[in-house]
Amino acid sequence: MHIPSLIEQKRDGSELSADQIRDIITAYTRGDVPDYQMSALAMAIYFRGMSGAETASLTDAMLHSGGVLQWPADAPMRVDKHSTGGIGDKTSLVLAPLLACDGVWVPMISGRGLGITGGTLDKLESIPGFRTQLSESEIYKTLPITGCVMVGQTANLCPADKKLYALRDVTGTVQSIPLITASIMCKKLAEGLNRLILDVKYGSGAFMKTHEQAHELAQSMVTVGRALGVRSSVRLSPMDEATGESAGNALEVMECVRCLKGQGPKDLEDIVLDLACAVSISSRAELAGMLRDGRAWAKFQHMVEVQGGKAESLERLHLIHAVSVIHEMKAPQSGVLKRLDAGTLGRAVLGLGAGRAKASDPVDPAVGVDQMCKVGQEVRAGDVLLRIHARSQAAAEQAEREIAEGVEIV
Ligand code: URA
Repeated sequence: MHIPSLIEQKRDGSELSADQIRDIITAYTRGDVPDYQMSALAMAIYFRGMSGAETASLTDAMLHSGGVLQWPADAPMRVDKHSTGGIGDKTSLVLAPLLACDGVWVPMISGRGLGITGGTLDKLESIPGFRTQLSESEIYKTLPITGCVMVGQTANLCPADKKLYALRDVTGTVQSIPLITASIMCKKLAEGLNRLILDVKYGSGAFMKTHEQAHELAQSMVTVGRALGVRSSVRLSPMDEATGESAGNALEVMECVRCLKGQGPKDLEDIVLDLACAVSISSRAELAGMLRDGRAWAKFQHMVEVQGGKAESLERLHLIHAVSVIHEMKAPQSGVLKRLDAGTLGRAVLGLGAGRAKASDPVDPAVGVDQMCKVGQEVRAGDVLLRIHARSQAAAEQAEREIAEGVEIV
């Protein structure tokens, strides 16, 4: 294999074969292709794109750069969801236990927040004791007991993606549909799934800014899922407004506890039920029933306990992660809330300390916003639009100024 020729081939717009792609990824994972050649190839892919067949081959090569979770032939169907990320996007925490109540297994491997979008692992780690880093043997032991696990990527799963994602992050090659597709899909397919639902977000608070971009990514991921034998479906969701009523790690877990008890909020419950319906044999009404009758809540508490967390802390997170300042942001005038921009809100929440600017930064579990009004709601001057949980009055006021930029009342 002569790597410079393969880079030139892609640079000049020719297709790479499945064998060529597999050989490059195998060699890169072993350390035999240096980062400078891999970044040149990533940039060629960024500009030239990839065909559906090339993207499927890339995904397959990255998937087989490590192990794939293996399940017994008589194991229940494995299902999962992937969201491309948004502000206040906490659906995984409700969806995984809900689906497990429905008799399927959910071996959910999740990520951390980076940039303005939050991460499932960061949210879960606001639960005292909760372990997100289970070994593969612990995953194999836990899933038959609980029906769902929520964990981080293990060292053995998709090592090529770990290396390539870090490289893309510093070479301006993240925003490439084939590279995003392969990166997301290899990690999901490594779970040994039968079915996958993809929640592709678009708008100011999402990775994809337009419906067209989201549609293109969705098509690409579904095509790869089909090519590699996993039935995949898609929900395109607008992300111009945050999901639910809170954004911030512990605050979002508390909102999920309410949702798991069947107490909404409506937009969060609607997204969860839409996603669940796509991979479930139960009807929407039956799934909603599992939220109302306490089954999903009991399942979540069980999963938390089995993963080392203290389930009794779930209803006391506001005390465990208390902040010194809870600042009410008030409506400046009466009218209908026309805009509470997700991107602006996400940046303010990041500024409070809930997210990270680079992967090694710590996150503050306690800060964020809650009791958010929803777009379309009527407000009177002086009503609380949302509450800001901050470590200081100055931080709260700074966040308020930022959020105000994205608020429109007419
Ligand atoms: N998330 C991933 O896991 N990979 C990407 O390339 C983009 C988002």
